[in-house]
Amino acid sequence: MVEEQKDGVILDVSVAVPRYVLSHDALAEARGIDPDKYRYGLGCEEMSVCGPGEDTVTLAAEAAWRLLKGDPERLSRVGMCIVGTESNVDASKSIASTLHGLLGLRPACRVFDIQHACYGATAALQMARSWVRQYPRQLALVIASDVARYERCSPGEPTQGAGAVGLLIGAASPRDACLTLSAVSGTYASDVNDFWRPTYQKTACVKGKFSVDCYLKGMVEAYDDYKAQVKASAVPEHMLFHAPFPHMARKAHRRLMVHQGHTDEIFLADDYRRRVEPSLWANRRVGNIYTGSLYLSLAALCEQEGDDLTGCHAALFSYGSGSCSEYFTGRFGQAVARPGLQAMLDARDSIGVSRYEVLSDASLALEQNQSFCEDIAPRKGQPFTFLGIRDHERVYRQNEIGRRGEDFARERVESLPRAIPGRDPGVGQRPLLDGVAG
Ligand code: HMG
Repeated sequence: MVEEQKDGVILDVSVAVPRYVLSHDALAEARGIDPDKYRYGLGCEEMSVCGPGEDTVTLAAEAAWRLLKGDPERLSRVGMCIVGTESNVDASKSIASTLHGLLGLRPACRVFDIQHACYGATAALQMARSWVRQYPRQLALVIASDVARYERCSPGEPTQGAGAVGLLIGAASPRDACLTLSAVSGTYASDVNDFWRPTYQKTACVKGKFSVDCYLKGMVEAYDDYKAQVKASAVPEHMLFHAPFPHMARKAHRRLMVHQGHTDEIFLADDYRRRVEPSLWANRRVGNIYTGSLYLSLAALCEQEGDDLTGCHAALFSYGSGSCSEYFTGRFGQAVARPGLQAMLDARDSIGVSRYEVLSDASLALEQNQSFCEDIAPRKGQPFTFLGIRDHERVYRQNEIGRRGEDFARERVESLPRAIPGRDPGVGQRPLLDGVAG
């Protein structure tokens, strides 16, 4: 039997969401808006809201921890950790550095963040794919983590959200993958001010309608670039779009279909229902998580369709304001991820609008120097907590469950034999064990 060629693939997908959830019906009532606008006009049902002790870093660390916990072999092989984010908490130190400490990654590891609005995680994913081809025995973590904040009472407010998605990237045969991505991508970049966040602001500036136009133009251009490179390609069974609000995916699908020459309304509605809708249920319940939004759709599709996805093709469109667009495709293998998303979303605590406002003010207050507070209780199952800032340093606590995962991993890694130095361009040359010590 001929062994399948290995490629840089997505091996697993994880998700982390914060403790609280606010319904769009409650938000609409408080803002004096017809709830149908949010539910049907934007396609939103709920948005995730951070509690005290949750920020971009704890969400990123939790998504990464979910990929590694209880699997010391995975932990020992991680040689790269890239965080895609546009809601970073520091202008210099990378979130990936903090993750390195919280997760106990080994010292011989590349850690850095990538920022390009909602496109950051896709840039990280493409870089990680190439890197694991060079170091096939190692694994890369790509973590997309964001807390989306718009001005209160602005049109963007119902499109907020918070959460992180983790992608484990490794060299494997397409059969052993969750998703193997196409060798080529279509790309398009344009210098536009559709959405941005000045460093002196906590909330985003946005030209809403213009940003929708920029997104749609970027998609068509990136798709055309892809088609110019690929002579013949399978018609994808699933289409995943960056979804700042779920109705954006409907607009994108429609524009792409019309661009491809499909204009029959019944065909368009049916095609949308079959190929796009199954991936959107989690986005409706989480809100915009910026750079993780596309990959939240991937996690949701995996959970919804399970093993039925094996052998199916998907088209993916990533958009980051500013802007950069990428259209690519992928084929599902036998290791379809099971991120446990439904249970995670159902377990959130529901809050009303006044509590949501108090919590957003409180999380901004925690961003001030000397906000440190030891007593912040973690939610059930939360591995890491942000305790505020002390002497300009952010303090993170590894909760008991976070420590247990790491101790378990450390025990197992210590019992693994040391690799023979000089024989392996990957793991073998690295001081593997030193990095795992806490
Ligand atoms: P808006 O002005 O509040 O809403 O802004 P609208 O008046 O355009 O209404 C929205 C939809 O609801 C419309 O449907 C209305 O007809 C419908 P459409 O014409 O679009 O199909 N509607 C109703 N439906 C049912 N019952 C009703 C009702 N009333 C109205 N009673 C906007 C909407 C998206 C502009 C705003 O929410 C916003 O500014 N959001 C933030 C920006 C954004 O998400 N842009 C998307 C593209 S850019 C992007 O994706 C990048 C991003 O993720 C950032 C990054 O890259 O980092 C944002």
